[in-house]
Amino acid sequence: MNDAKTPLIAAADIENAHVRGMSAYDQRVAEADADYDAYWCERARELLSWRTPFTRGLDESQAPFFKWFEDGTLNVSYNCLDRHVEKGLGDKTALIFEADDGQVTRVNYRELLARTCRLANALKARGVHKGDRVVIYMSMSIEGVVAMQACARIGATHSVVFGGFSAQSLRDRIQDAGAVMVITADEQLRGGKQLPLKAIVDDAIALGGCESVANVLVYQRTGAAIHWDSTRDRWLHAETQNQPDSCEPEWVGAEHPLFVLYTSGSTGKPKGVQHSSGGYLLHAALTTQWTFDLQPDDVFWCTADIGWVTGHSYITYGPLALGATEIIFEGVPTFPDAGRFWKMIEDHRVSIFYTAPTAIRSLIKSAESNESVHPRSYDLSSLRILGSVGEPINPAAWEWYHQHVGGGRCPIVDTFWQTETGGHMITPLPGATPLVPGSCTLAFPGIAAAIVDETGADLPNGQGGILVIKKPWPSMIRTIWGDPERFKASYFPAELKGYYLAGDGAIRDAQTGYFTITGRIDDVLNVSGHRMGTMEIESALVSCTELVAEAAVVGRPDETTGEAICAFVVLKGPRPSGEEARQIANTLRNWVAKEIGPIAKPKDIRFGDNLPKTRSGKIMRRLLRSVAKGEDVTQDISTLENPAVLAQLAQSN
Ligand code: PRX
Repeated sequence: MNDAKTPLIAAADIENAHVRGMSAYDQRVAEADADYDAYWCERARELLSWRTPFTRGLDESQAPFFKWFEDGTLNVSYNCLDRHVEKGLGDKTALIFEADDGQVTRVNYRELLARTCRLANALKARGVHKGDRVVIYMSMSIEGVVAMQACARIGATHSVVFGGFSAQSLRDRIQDAGAVMVITADEQLRGGKQLPLKAIVDDAIALGGCESVANVLVYQRTGAAIHWDSTRDRWLHAETQNQPDSCEPEWVGAEHPLFVLYTSGSTGKPKGVQHSSGGYLLHAALTTQWTFDLQPDDVFWCTADIGWVTGHSYITYGPLALGATEIIFEGVPTFPDAGRFWKMIEDHRVSIFYTAPTAIRSLIKSAESNESVHPRSYDLSSLRILGSVGEPINPAAWEWYHQHVGGGRCPIVDTFWQTETGGHMITPLPGATPLVPGSCTLAFPGIAAAIVDETGADLPNGQGGILVIKKPWPSMIRTIWGDPERFKASYFPAELKGYYLAGDGAIRDAQTGYFTITGRIDDVLNVSGHRMGTMEIESALVSCTELVAEAAVVGRPDETTGEAICAFVVLKGPRPSGEEARQIANTLRNWVAKEIGPIAKPKDIRFGDNLPKTRSGKIMRRLLRSVAKGEDVTQDISTLENPAVLAQLAQSN
């Protein structure tokens, strides 16, 4: 937050910036205020190529199931590939793929289009139709991007599942989406290790409930021996090699579902966030252009995985819609050493770099103890814009990023958004917005972000409250796949006057009006920028019925990962201590990894004879959060049934 002690850092003076100076920002905000529909329609005409032009923008007739540009038709892959080739940019490099072992492969727009078409034809040959769902379970690869684009080309709706999710999580997503096909790889390579993918798909299918899957397409990444079921498994190279290089795009309505991406909520199982084609692509492209001030010669690098929304909007769709050159990185930031990111920026002359605060914080630690992996040991002069995403960036990490990576000259865009929002909601624009470390500054022009109380009434600047978006915007979530009631209840609660509820708390600075996100107001955790529901982890723990009687999960602040998962467990047997406690804690961590994925492993597991409950039997989570933080419990515990358990739960294993 800004106050007199933290002066604004002047915006960079970028000569040909898309949005240059605050007056240009204000002008766009004023345009959107004056005629919201016209503002968005104009953007959609400027940035996208429509097969059939739309005649209207926003349709609110079935609120909160909003529609945008509904009578227009387009094809997303046409917008990302063909139109650049048609304009003579076929030779321009689209993707620079750097493998885990450092090997580099470049693909230009013409080749990327041809590869997308071959796969699109192969999908059709296997009976995948417009509207069918295809699950993509792959690591970072050219093939992963091609798979997404090929689905878009034929109007199939993809659902990418992050390669770190377990067989159980993958099965749940395949089943919920009713996928007809899974596209995967034999293995993935990360940090010098070969990790299975196809074997996990086999396990997921073996769990049952995936009868809709007729074919599993396998990209051969490592050549490892894998189990093969010839009734359904097909090699991707064999399926595509004889397919033609062209494939007529399927022209779809703007509202056609481009993808479903599963994310965690505060209750129940993960929800399938459904996005549109036209409105989604518009905001992915527009934010790539304005937030990163993307210019034709830029080399853009978003380090996210395509399994998360950041990889969708700022790898597969936004940059390609604008004909950019971008990096795709298979590996991890610490292999072969913690200088990998800086070396890649130097080698590829990266000009725009977009990563997560967790990565920065862990690289700070390494750089401070080893000069050879410090950013100053590399030539980072190609950089002009830095970005941050996924969690709050603490001012100390911001300053280090600014100073040591950006050489004090590159603006940092701290972009606040969510899986559901499709693209940036609150962010600085690099050539316009003065910066404050730790603040995501101001709403993107055309996004009606505000802070309200529990009744939806506006709160004045300086007073923290609930973050909402007051007006529908083109790239917003359309529904939760198969669960429209949950969509309404989760995002448009009756008491909030029809505003979109983001699920975060925020405060605006009294003087500048700048936003600072204060964290989730529901039971969703953010660990290393990965979103997880406490209920999901609790369910995973109690499903270990042999050992666990009861479990409660909360987050606690962590220096590197932002938040860490802390689980309080009551065992069926007696409360263990010492070595036995450590062993059981490890068994439970591995259990959670098997149920959800390694990213959901609790960092702390504490055992108690019971959980702190009120006399009516409600678990006092507020208290558990204090215990997890190691705070002395000063809260009123007079309603607590069993105060003695607090001392037990304070002990870590
Ligand atoms: O709590 C906010 C946090 O991440 C949540 C959204 O997570 P997810 O849907 O996985 O999308 C992550 C990538 C966009 C938000 O509700 N969050 C995201 N960006 C920021 C942030 N918190 C603070 N500052 C940010 N820049």
